[in-house]
Amino acid sequence: MTSSSIINLNNVWGENMSKLPILFTERLIIRPLSINDAQDMYDYSYRDNVGPRAGWKPHQSIADSEAVIRSMINQTMTDTNIGIFALEYRENKKMIGTIGVHRYDKTNLSAEVGYVLHPDYWCKGLMVEALTKVIMWLFDQMGLYRIECSHFDFNYQSKRVIEKCGFTIEGISRKKIVLSDGSRADLYNYAILRDEYLNKQLPWQKKKE
Ligand SMILES: CC(C)(COP(=O)(O)OP(=O)(O)OC[C@H]1O[C@@H](n2cnc3c(N)ncnc32)[C@H](O)[C@@H]1OP(=O)(O)O)[C@@H](O)C(=O)NCCC(=O)NCCS
Repeated sequence: MTSSSIINLNNVWGENMSKLPILFTERLIIRPLSINDAQDMYDYSYRDNVGPRAGWKPHQSIADSEAVIRSMINQTMTDTNIGIFALEYRENKKMIGTIGVHRYDKTNLSAEVGYVLHPDYWCKGLMVEALTKVIMWLFDQMGLYRIECSHFDFNYQSKRVIEKCGFTIEGISRKKIVLSDGSRADLYNYAILRDEYLNKQLPWQKKKE
């Protein structure tokens, strides 16, 4: 069996480019969001230490989460977004976070990833596990050349995810973001290029060799 046929068996995708695929990792199922995920999304989105670190306000109710999910589903394979994946923890089938692929630029083959995870599941390496799988899909199946990612200056945890995925820092947008308390944060901007991925220069690719 060739490595490409293994990829095809693992990823249930291909027959319909208007949908997101289902991707599998050791501990996660990375799949399209469903309105049935609203309770699970609310379980992490009401917390003060989740959304604000990613630039959005905590949800006030499950209805908020439902509205967000509907909006996210509408951002699937549009001119400017590839879509938002749900991260389902295999062990208990809970939806514990998301990875969004936004700012899709079809001309220059680039997009930006953003992510959140339920705090009960932090510090287990789950986001690196999920994001590296999505990165592979974006290069191998979506044909991207460039994947971008950014974090606020105070977000050490996200910085570490970005570094472990192999993004290279390209610059700092000084005081770009106004936070909920009115203060401003610097935005640290990174990218991975397809050549770096194909040449197996990323830390998670080197480890496997
Ligand atoms: C950023 C986030 C997705 C990281 O996910 P994760 O799967 O926990 O990431 P990791 O397990 O790889 O941990 C990343 C780093 O944070 C550290 N960390 C994890 N949980 C922590 C905690 N509660 N307190 C302090 N450090 C913590 C880890 O030790 C690790 O650092 P190391 O690699 O130097 O050891 C998660 O913290 C999150 O959802 N945060 C809120 C939303 C957010 O910030 N999104 C990103 C916006 S840019």
